[in-house]
Amino acid sequence: MEHSVGNAARTNVSVLGLGDMGTALAAALLAAGHRVTVWNRTARKADALVEKGARRALTPAEAIAAGEVVIVCILDYAAVGPLLADDGAGEALKGRVVVNVTNGSPAEARELAERVSGLGADYLDGGIMAVPEIIGQPQAFVLYSGAEVAFRAYREVLDAFARSVYLGADPGLAPLNDLALLSGMYGMFGGFLHAAGLVRSAGGNVAEFTRELLVPWLRAMADSQLPAMAEQADSGDYGATGSNLAMQVSHDAIGDVSRAQGVSTELFGPLWELMKRRVADGHGAESVGGVLELVHPRGGGA
Ligand SMILES: NC(=O)c1ccc[n+]([C@@H]2O[C@H](COP(=O)([O-])OP(=O)(O)OC[C@H]3O[C@@H](n4cnc5c(N)ncnc54)[C@H](OP(=O)(O)O)[C@@H]3O)[C@@H](O)[C@H]2O)c1
Repeated sequence: MEHSVGNAARTNVSVLGLGDMGTALAAALLAAGHRVTVWNRTARKADALVEKGARRALTPAEAIAAGEVVIVCILDYAAVGPLLADDGAGEALKGRVVVNVTNGSPAEARELAERVSGLGADYLDGGIMAVPEIIGQPQAFVLYSGAEVAFRAYREVLDAFARSVYLGADPGLAPLNDLALLSGMYGMFGGFLHAAGLVRSAGGNVAEFTRELLVPWLRAMADSQLPAMAEQADSGDYGATGSNLAMQVSHDAIGDVSRAQGVSTELFGPLWELMKRRVADGHGAESVGGVLELVHPRGGGA
């Protein structure tokens, strides 16, 4: 579909869903000078935005009709479908660009993209890598996938939220990469929680430990180790670069000390078991990156 917008100034944008995130997105659009129409199931949540200049739509169909770009930010996909089936919503969608930033799976994104395209609209799926408080700030970014022409045409509008990153035409790419990034984050949280347990078990100050030692350590490891491990993941060559896996699992120091200190090994244990299994499989001379072959074998596909 062709889109004539080359200049983002004062675009008609609608936002469906005014929870914490939808409210932050609508506020960012208003701050950027766009004409914003808002709809939320619980109507009073639109009051503050209306005071700031947003227009209130009484139905999803009215909101869709008002926007060239329709941002959907609802709890989950199960709730998105009925909104698009709302009386008149299907007809209103024709010619619109739907940007759905509701979190879900790649399959859900592809299914919704097909449905939206069938109604004559372009579809972009979005993965917001931010919390509401940092929408509009430099550290925030949003992943997009789906209709590239629509992304290019309305990129400046989307830039009001955060740095916009386009990943490709498959609508499932944004949710997949979103979940991959969250997996990395939860791995870091797991590491923090175990480390904090150890420090607390010895009467230490977790805040000071985290500030002075853990954060600098994790930054150094992220910068020095992850790029090389990522290259190994792509090449499948896991040759050790100074710390072979057999050396790392030669004794269970973290497990032994944790148990002695009364710290659960439930977080660290699964990774430890995979490292040991990789050595038992004959890969002790390689790096820890080879554990990826147990997580997702090379060439294994979906
Ligand atoms: N908050 C974050 O940090 C964050 C970060 C990244 C991505 N996200 C994603 O953004 C989306 C919205 O998150 P949020 O933080 O704004 O959640 P939230 O504050 O809990 O708001 C949920 C929104 O969904 C609406 N909703 C729920 N069920 C509905 C239904 N059956 N029909 C119509 N509307 C319905 C709610 O309407 P009512 O007001 O009427 O209940 C509300 O507008 C989620 O998919 C979330 O995963 C959030």
